[in-house]
Amino acid sequence: KLGCGWVMRIIFLGPPGVGKGTQSQKLVDYWSIPHISTGEMLREATRNKTELGLKAAAQMEGGRLASDEIVVQMVRQRLAQSDCRNGYLLDGFPRTLPQAASLDLGLAVDDEAVDAVLNLEVDQEELFRRLMARALKEDRGDDNEDTIRNRMKVYNDMTFPLIQYYEEQKVLFRIDGIGTIEEVFDRIQAVLTEVAEKRA
Ligand code: AP5
Repeated sequence: KLGCGWVMRIIFLGPPGVGKGTQSQKLVDYWSIPHISTGEMLREATRNKTELGLKAAAQMEGGRLASDEIVVQMVRQRLAQSDCRNGYLLDGFPRTLPQAASLDLGLAVDDEAVDAVLNLEVDQEELFRRLMARALKEDRGDDNEDTIRNRMKVYNDMTFPLIQYYEEQKVLFRIDGIGTIEEVFDRIQAVLTEVAEKRA
């Protein structure tokens, strides 16, 4: 299996509901790297009512972002853990230009550049449909109509500019996110395998 023994540093970009979390779970198994989801970390901190969690929860009200300060501190601590030495998959981070700059300035302990920034692409209607469908089966407080609309707007204002940022660094890969989970996974794997082989 190609994943074993390779160092792979991946960033997952893309709007809410595009499939980042779903694909991340499959990818980290294959590439044997930790899945670092800032959304999940923030939800856990909120559930545990830590000082950081309570502060972040107030900031995230209505689908807004947690502050760069909180998120960067959280990611810095996570990337310093030993399981990140052989790479990592960042799901939902960076989400703003200042967060991306922090990562470039050596947030990761090994100070290596990322190998691939994956931008999953799905039309707005389908995103909305997926999130509304999830609202019926999962308990995510931010999956309701108003908050979803606001998350989309926040994405367009704050995160969308990262596409150009990483395009200029020549590490951005656009991937069609429509199709079955397996079809999308195969497209991502084709990109990552090529990246790994080119680097070998
Ligand atoms: P986060 O948890 O990152 O949420 P998100 O970006 O809104 O993304 P989602 O989890 O909603 O969607 P996804 O792309 O992971 O799709 P999924 O695989 O779940 O962030 C939540 C909040 O935390 C943010 O709003 C912000 O407040 C805060 N936050 C997080 N990171 C931050 C940061 N860096 N800075 C500041 N604040 C931060 O799939 C969605 C649904 O679609 C599922 O039901 C799934 O089963 C289904 N699905 C998946 N793939 C397919 C497919 N191919 N076909 C059909 N359905 C599919």
